[in-house]
Amino acid sequence: MKTIGIFYGSTYGMTQKAAEKIKDAFGKTKVNLYDLKNASIKDIEKYTNLIFGTSAWGIGEMQDEWEMTIDDLSKINFSNRKVALFGLGDQLEYPESFVDGLGTMYCRLPDKSCVVGLWPSKGYNYYFSLADKDGKFVGLVLDDHNQENLTDKRITEWVKQLEKEFI
Ligand SMILES: Cc1cc2nc3c(=O)[nH]c(=O)nc-3n(C[C@H](O)[C@H](O)[C@H](O)COP(=O)(O)O)c2cc1C
Repeated sequence: MKTIGIFYGSTYGMTQKAAEKIKDAFGKTKVNLYDLKNASIKDIEKYTNLIFGTSAWGIGEMQDEWEMTIDDLSKINFSNRKVALFGLGDQLEYPESFVDGLGTMYCRLPDKSCVVGLWPSKGYNYYFSLADKDGKFVGLVLDDHNQENLTDKRITEWVKQLEKEFI
């Protein structure tokens, strides 16, 4: 498999921790990890297989770094790329906007046809999520506030799925 670029925005380090676990789960496959605050669109452009990670803030907002970067993705041609998304949130405190950052990220991607890594929304407790499209999340959803015990298992399964869906 081609080298994977993981780009994440993380305010208190929770998305960063998840990104590091995802990298480790790929084992021998080469994965480069970028905190978005130290990366540019040119870095994103280097990869055919991409993973974008964000936490959820405010009303439907992505993590700050993504808010500042997402519109620049339109400068990249995604037609021969695959993009998988993951999002962190808190279903107990924010059940009406659970992982909305992930949903907003999906909405604002310039090309949604490149998205892989959809994830079942079963096993989470929430009223509404922008990331839920017809009973599936638009990417891996992690909640280290309430379901930290499930995170490693979810990451392992999702990475197995991506190994089939990536180029
Ligand atoms: C002010 C504030 C607003 C938040 N809003 C949401 C939200 O709307 N939906 C949600 O699922 N989580 C929400 N969260 C939870 C964060 O997304 C969660 O703590 C996440 O793990 C933080 O990851 P990070 O440290 O990588 O930024 C919010 C947290 C704070 C402090």
